[in-house]
Amino acid sequence: MKKNILLIGGSYGIGLELVKQLSEDYSVYVASRTSEGLEGTSATHITFDANTDSLDITALPNEIHGFAYCPGSINLKPFKMMSLDTFESDMQLNFFNMVKIVKDTLPLMTAGGAIVLFSTVAVGSGMPYHTSVAAAKGAVEGFAKALAAEYAPNIRVNVIAPSLVNTPLAKRLLSNDKKIEMMSQRHPLKRIGEVEDIANTAAFLLCEKSSWITGQVIGVDGGMSTLNLS
Ligand SMILES: NC(=O)c1ccc[n+]([C@@H]2O[C@H](COP(=O)([O-])OP(=O)(O)OC[C@H]3O[C@@H](n4cnc5c(N)ncnc54)[C@H](OP(=O)(O)O)[C@@H]3O)[C@@H](O)[C@H]2O)c1
Repeated sequence: MKKNILLIGGSYGIGLELVKQLSEDYSVYVASRTSEGLEGTSATHITFDANTDSLDITALPNEIHGFAYCPGSINLKPFKMMSLDTFESDMQLNFFNMVKIVKDTLPLMTAGGAIVLFSTVAVGSGMPYHTSVAAAKGAVEGFAKALAAEYAPNIRVNVIAPSLVNTPLAKRLLSNDKKIEMMSQRHPLKRIGEVEDIANTAAFLLCEKSSWITGQVIGVDGGMSTLNLS
């Protein structure tokens, strides 16, 4: 029998690439608002809005072996223009909704299970205009490390901290060739990320090949967080 992976989000972006990479070896369940992107895949879709719905556990198999939470936000503004509502909605989507779903699904997770959460390069490196998302993802990183400690050795919890990746979430930052070139040049590896770059690492962290890795925040960021070439 195939093992089961639950992805919150997976209808497009990094999550959809993860569906494609995992589907051969796992039964993949995707909970998201839309499902068009999943056509042609073998994933089971559950209609679900993390902002308003509780996840219907009865729609899931009895055992979950891997879990990833993909929803996220990129609201970039100078701090003086960043509203408190933005801080609240970013924290809600990135952190509180994730915590609620982890709480609901942990009882289904088997020993040897793995959780993957997403942060951003802007938590480890201070970047202007990132106060809201950096705060929300910073909460994700702290939560993940504490959860990893609490659930070791049974369940592994790791975080991926990407830099800019070519997905619908980032489309405003990548809306023309000039912006793409400018963003590419900011990265030591001279390109922006593609969904495969992040999904490769997420798939690795969800599978047994990473069975000695937990409590880590892994930068998949073209060298952005650690290399300074200037
Ligand atoms: N792209 C980047 O440059 C970048 C950079 C740093 C970090 N990250 C992080 O990486 C993760 C994945 O990013 P991405 O670029 O793949 O995002 P994306 O393109 O926006 O995809 C997000 C996925 O989550 C689902 N989703 C969004 N809101 C939801 C909600 N309220 N309820 C249920 N599902 C919801 C979406 O599906 P539906 O709309 O169908 O619900 C979609 O499948 C995020 O946590 C993001 O913060 C991304």
